[in-house]
Amino acid sequence: IEVKTYQKLLELLPLTKRNRINRFMNPKDSYRSLVADLLIRFVISRELGIKNRDIIYTYNKYGKPFLKDHTDFHFNISHSGEWVVCAHGSAPVGIDIEKIRVIDLNLFSSFLSHEELKELNQISPELQLEFFFDIWTLKESFTKSLGLGLSLPLKQYSIKRINYKNISMKRNGRIQPCFFKQYNFLKNYKLSVCSKCKEFTNNVIVKDFKDIIEGVKVVSFQI
Ligand SMILES: CC(C)(COP(=O)(O)OP(=O)(O)OC[C@H]1O[C@@H](n2cnc3c(N)ncnc32)[C@H](O)[C@@H]1OP(=O)(O)O)[C@@H](O)C(=O)NCCC(=O)NCCS
Repeated sequence: IEVKTYQKLLELLPLTKRNRINRFMNPKDSYRSLVADLLIRFVISRELGIKNRDIIYTYNKYGKPFLKDHTDFHFNISHSGEWVVCAHGSAPVGIDIEKIRVIDLNLFSSFLSHEELKELNQISPELQLEFFFDIWTLKESFTKSLGLGLSLPLKQYSIKRINYKNISMKRNGRIQPCFFKQYNFLKNYKLSVCSKCKEFTNNVIVKDFKDIIEGVKVVSFQI
């Protein structure tokens, strides 16, 4: 993004968020956070017919943003690599995207339950990373739907995944009241969504950066 465009886009966000975005050491983190916020603001503006200046977030104690004055509109965002994603609906929702990258799985074993670790160790090494990022994004989407972040003891929770939409979460043998879906159209990424509502769209809307910039120019979004 050109510096001038970046500054202009940043002005569409509240001062606290602008300061947060400017504090990232890596410009890519700043861009991702900026574009993710613009994307969800564009969606909120379009869905609820409100102007950008009237989009005000409140945050729970773990940092999950909610829309002030529109408590029945639920949304969540995530960003990784070249992508930012958002999900919204009338029930609490969490979304997580992760670029599949080589990591030392031993460092992350404390996030996995005994059942998940057992499953991981039974599969061939070349499939282990993919398995791990499936579980990671599913668990992240779960805790993000609850708004609890890493305060949730993820090791006590276990994902059972039959296929991309037949997925459940258990704790102490009890199925948790939530639903999952994975979207598999991005090579080298895992994208998972968790919701209190079992209806998920099949209609994923993909926009490139230019579309989002055009979006922020639409009349209802102008400051
Ligand atoms: C903050 C957290 C909720 C998500 O972190 P993340 O995966 O790094 O970030 P994502 O890109 O998926 O999501 C970030 C967005 O989620 C939202 N968010 C922040 N806190 C949140 C919370 N408690 N609940 C739901 N959403 C939250 C914000 O909109 C945030 O956007 P911003 O950073 O641009 O303001 C938290 O779960 C975390 O720190 N996770 C670390 C990852 C990890 O180690 N996971 C192991 C799982 S096996």
